[in-house]
Amino acid sequence: MKTRILPVSEASLAEAKELIAAGEVVAFHTETVYGLGADARNDAAVKKIFALKGRPADNPLIAHVHAGYDISALVEIPPYAYALQKAFLPGPLTMVYPSKGKVSPYVSCGLCTLSVRVPSSPAAQAFLRAVDVPIAAPSANRSKHVSPVTAQHVFDDFAGDIPLILDGGPSSGGIESTVLDCTGEYPQILRAGLVTREMIAAVVGQCGVYRMHAGEKPKSPGMAYKHYAPGCRTAFFAADDVSSARRCYGKEAGQGGAPYIMAEHAVCALLDGYERLDLGATPAEMAANLYKLLREGERKATLLIGIEPREKGGVMDGVRNRLLRAFGQSEDTHEA
Ligand code: TXA
Ligand code: MG
Repeated sequence: MKTRILPVSEASLAEAKELIAAGEVVAFHTETVYGLGADARNDAAVKKIFALKGRPADNPLIAHVHAGYDISALVEIPPYAYALQKAFLPGPLTMVYPSKGKVSPYVSCGLCTLSVRVPSSPAAQAFLRAVDVPIAAPSANRSKHVSPVTAQHVFDDFAGDIPLILDGGPSSGGIESTVLDCTGEYPQILRAGLVTREMIAAVVGQCGVYRMHAGEKPKSPGMAYKHYAPGCRTAFFAADDVSSARRCYGKEAGQGGAPYIMAEHAVCALLDGYERLDLGATPAEMAANLYKLLREGERKATLLIGIEPREKGGVMDGVRNRLLRAFGQSEDTHEA
């Protein structure tokens, strides 16, 4: 199969609509990362997504809809969730609700909940309006690989396997949406992202953060899997241990390897003469740059050396979660 990358236009949207209606899979832009979409009502189309990604069959997908779509047709919405929808949608927030069972059971992997997202990027909205059906979509990367933030990243993972990538330019947010469980009395974050715990609590007064305990079945199955791994060797050092990172770099270079250091801007500035991947100075910059630099790192480096950013809380909760997982540092992660 030939995989085409097309800019969003009337013609490419018409083609996307036809492909989705025929049960095909189409990749599309969102403001967080690119998605790999299929008609959420079509069992065979949804199964195709799992097969293409090599995704474990117990890791549910998000249903994406346009801003005018009536979400209450798909799920039960608790009162506090309306306030959150009003505050944050369209945007990088995915909400998990009790499902009304209107989409394929394969979307939620048999769970009685359904996660729904209304992405804000004009390209995503144009695609979702054109098809006007709920689109089941995970991030458009092979399972466990780094999420894609450009059409080229999607092409690198799926060339020859999908017919169309709708190119909306780089994804500006850079990390996946916040996943928020809205099935309980108050909301609980299952995956940190750009809509932070602080922002949610400011709207509804209370917001929990789910932490998986050893031996427990995870509430958000995706969080249990090893993820975001670059295809090269990695090493990781604490924020206050730059000298060890320098030694590690020197050793790799001395053996003829190509080490690269990935760190926040202030640390990169101290490492003149080293090959560096500069994450940026602010949490938003670090989020926007992370996946692009992980993919650049795996292309260029034999050893990618990460140095932990100093800041915590807010958007950094999401950035640190992805960074630590990419470097194999997260304790609540196991191989799928
Ligand atoms: O920004 C994003 O969320 C991107 C774009 C394409 O929308 N999508 C994305 O999808 O990151 P994916 O499949 O890579 O991650 C979805 C996460 C997984 O951790 C999954 O376990 C969780 O959301 N999830 C989905 N449905 C769920 C449900 N019903 N209950 C609990 N967790 C759910
Ligand atoms: Mg993903």
